[in-house]
Amino acid sequence: MTAVLRTIGEFEAAARDRLDPAHYDYFAGGTGEEITLRANEAAFARLALLPRVLRGAGSPRIGVTLLGSPVAMPVLVAPTAFHRLADPEGEPATARAAAGAGTIMIVSMAATVAVEDVATAAPGATLWFQLYVQPDMAFTEAIVRRAEAAGCTALVVTVDSPARGHRDRDLRNGFVDLPEGMRCDNLRDGDLVRPIVMSPEISWEHVDALRRMTRLPIVLKGVTHPADARLALEHGVSALYVSNHGGRQLDTVPATVQLLPEIVAAVAGAVPVLVDGGIRRGPDVVKAMALGASAVAVGRPVIWGLATGGERGVARVLALLREDVEQTLTLCGVASVDDLGPELVRPC
Ligand code: FNR
Ligand code: LAC
Repeated sequence: MTAVLRTIGEFEAAARDRLDPAHYDYFAGGTGEEITLRANEAAFARLALLPRVLRGAGSPRIGVTLLGSPVAMPVLVAPTAFHRLADPEGEPATARAAAGAGTIMIVSMAATVAVEDVATAAPGATLWFQLYVQPDMAFTEAIVRRAEAAGCTALVVTVDSPARGHRDRDLRNGFVDLPEGMRCDNLRDGDLVRPIVMSPEISWEHVDALRRMTRLPIVLKGVTHPADARLALEHGVSALYVSNHGGRQLDTVPATVQLLPEIVAAVAGAVPVLVDGGIRRGPDVVKAMALGASAVAVGRPVIWGLATGGERGVARVLALLREDVEQTLTLCGVASVDDLGPELVRPC
């Protein structure tokens, strides 16, 4: 079944057929009028690629190194919650597919399988752990220690969520809780599982505290303002991750690919810059990297693969993206992702 699906759009349609409609809406939906959700994809369509010819570029090289880890393709698995809603196995299936593709999975703090069990199920996988700083810093530290002990090699701290986005689809569907038998084991506290607190109290002081707490590199996810990018460097983060949470937090934030050049300029090569939001095809990946991203990440495409075919579905989605990136680079006359620059991209 999955073998005949050729685009992320076809995977989404297949996933929609299989999923409980409320769960499909949770995965697909955004905040408010979903203006940012739509803008992410639309902005890629408004950028053109201007190829060069006769460059004898050969087969393109698409591997990159991120925070010391070699990555076979510049497309990471963005942190997304609740994989067991998409597939009975959940996050371990995603992790094995990511490892098979030679890429990094960023495990959500809101995973439905404990990070230790994800790591055990996917030996050899490079896992980064996504954290929402909890106001109870002792509890935050306990979570960080678990991620370290599980072998995660970076901490992706999501900072676009001082409150939860207003999601009309979920409210309409009454989707407020995970079904019986599913829980967020990364928030285990003794026999209980604590709810995730999204707190407006979180500040740069918490980033400093995290830096003192762990030797793991800190990737700041959800930065959209260049001034915040500069502050992040002052606070010693190891990478910036430009994201509007896939249009799920503040509506009417610009598309991430529009924000990227300013952030890249502010960072001036000091640390890697990652980006996500609306990446569905090889040209999207190439445009983002031409505008200065070190790599990109995909959220929903992975969910659609998982819902459609479990580990194999995710593997197929990642393979489609890899092949499309290679094909795009070849057609652009580019030998390596290291050679990409803004001259390849034009507004249209
Ligand atoms: C997310 N995202 C997210 N981000 C995060 O830091 N922690 C999380 O737990 C989640 N959970 C989550 C669930 C679902 C269903 C989606 C769709 C997204 C945001 C995610 O990491 C990423 O920023 C976006 O998904 C990127 O946009 P695309 O690729 O989905 O368009
Ligand atoms: C979401 C949260 C869990 O986007 O980050 O649904």
